[in-house]
Amino acid sequence: MLVPEALLEAAVAARRVVVVTGAGMSAESGVPTFRDAQTGLWERYAAEDLATPEAWERDPAFVWAWYLSRFGAVAHVAPNAGHRAVAAWAGLTQVRVVTQNVDDLHERAGSRDVVHLHGSLTSFRCERCATAYAGVVDVPEQPVERVDPPTCAHCGGLVRPGVVWFGELLPLEAWEQSVALVEEADLVLVVGTSGIVHPAAGLPVLARGSGAFVVELNPFETDVSDVAHVVWRETAAGALPALVAALRGHSDRP
Ligand code: OAD
Repeated sequence: MLVPEALLEAAVAARRVVVVTGAGMSAESGVPTFRDAQTGLWERYAAEDLATPEAWERDPAFVWAWYLSRFGAVAHVAPNAGHRAVAAWAGLTQVRVVTQNVDDLHERAGSRDVVHLHGSLTSFRCERCATAYAGVVDVPEQPVERVDPPTCAHCGGLVRPGVVWFGELLPLEAWEQSVALVEEADLVLVVGTSGIVHPAAGLPVLARGSGAFVVELNPFETDVSDVAHVVWRETAAGALPALVAALRGHSDRP
């Protein structure tokens, strides 16, 4: 696969790389993207109807069961060649990952200090006192429509998923860290995001405004495309290993 010359040049020169990822990064691992239709018990609902504070208030057991099914699904899939390539790239230069994904596939591929802008499927906290929940979360073998969430050992409040719902603020520390990373970066590679959910969608704009070379890797045109210096219309698992192989080839040259 041919790596765009301008990307290769920027990547060879870059001292600080940030890879900003969205759901498309995990698509080839079998995790459906947000714009994909839901399946099974939840097929009548859009993610935007389930991942909200209002949905949780209306029916916590229903929302909890949906998260359990997502948590269980992610536990059964593996990082793809794209995740592994991003982790391997960090052996060549400083590469940081900022993700909107709530899965842990970057970490399982070996990336360290991943910034999760939208929280994580593997963390849970009390909805009332915000204490992290350390208990066991049982995932039913077959998806069920309702499961009562556990309660907090401290205050008895309901335990909720540790993710950011529509209409909620991003975790401040993760956001500030992401802004600092893209503002200091030489190269920002935006992989598999439609760029329609703010404020995460603002990171490529900030990066470009701060002088980074911005590249989009996505098989389709998105809201990020116009902001990028270069667009690469390939998939994450196909393209990222080719990029890292090309960089290795370059650094091996005398
Ligand atoms: P989306 O589902 O909006 O977009 C996925 C993007 O991945 C699309 O642009 C696809 O073209 C692209 N894509 C699909 N397959 C790909 C592949 N194999 N390789 C590379 N790209 C591929 O997902 P996000 O942009 O991540 O927020 O969505 C952003 C946020 O909206 C999510 O974090 C979530 C959601 O609602 C919250 O939950 C707060």
